[in-house]
Amino acid sequence: DRSLKIAPSILSADFANFGMECAAIEAQGADWVHVDVMDGHFVPNITFGPATCAAIRPHIKGVMDVHLMIAPVDPYIDAFAQAGADVITAHVEAGPHIHRTLQAIRGAGAKAGVALNPGTPASAVEYLLDMVDLVCVMTVNPGFGGQKFIHSQVEKVRQLRAMIGDRPIHIEIDGGVDPTTAPLVAAAGADVLVAGSAVFRGGSVTNPAPYGENIRAI
Ligand code: DX5
Ligand code: ZN
Repeated sequence: DRSLKIAPSILSADFANFGMECAAIEAQGADWVHVDVMDGHFVPNITFGPATCAAIRPHIKGVMDVHLMIAPVDPYIDAFAQAGADVITAHVEAGPHIHRTLQAIRGAGAKAGVALNPGTPASAVEYLLDMVDLVCVMTVNPGFGGQKFIHSQVEKVRQLRAMIGDRPIHIEIDGGVDPTTAPLVAAAGADVLVAGSAVFRGGSVTNPAPYGENIRAI
C-alpha cells in the first residue's frame, strides 16, 4: 500500500556500517529512517545516542525519526535536536511530565511524537493532541527487533484514529510489522510503519537489493 510511509529501523541494521545502511535503505525506497535509542534502564537493551544520530545525519536525505526509549528524557532533548533529529518521540511512560517533555521537544525545533507501550490505553494521549505531530503505537514490548506483533494493539490504532480526527497527526506503528501485519494496522488508520527485521532480512550493505524488495512487500 503506497499511501503508507515505511520507516525502517536501524536497530536491525549492520552496527558496523550505519551510514552506508541509511543511504542504502533510502536508495531502496525507505520514506523515513527510524532510530531506536535505548538506555538499558527504560528498556532492557542499550543501543546508541546523540553522537550516532549526528554521525548518520549526513547520510540521511529524508526524515530522521528518533525514538527515545530512555528515562528521563528531558536532559537529552537538545542533544538529539542538535544531532539533526526531525522527529523526537518520547514514551508517555518515561516520566511524570510528558506534556512538558513534548513542549521541550517542539521548543528545541523538532516535531514531537509520543509513544504508547502495549499496556497503555489510547486515552493517555487525550490531553496531548495539541502537543504532538505523531503518536507511536508499540506493537511489541520495546527493546528488541524481531519480536511477535501484539494483535490487541490494532483496536488501539482504531481508537486513536477516531480521537485524532482531521488533526495533522501521524499514527506510527512500531514492532513486528511485516507483509502480514501491515494491512491490519493500515486498515485501522496507521500511516507510518516502522519495520526492522522485515526490511533488513536477506540484505547487507554490499547487497542492499533485498531491502527494496522487502520494503515494497510491506
Ligand atoms: C523495538 C523498537 C522497534 C524495533 C522494530 O523496541 O522500537 O523499532 O526496532 O523491529 P521489528 O520491526 O524487527 O519488530
Ligand atoms: Zn522504535
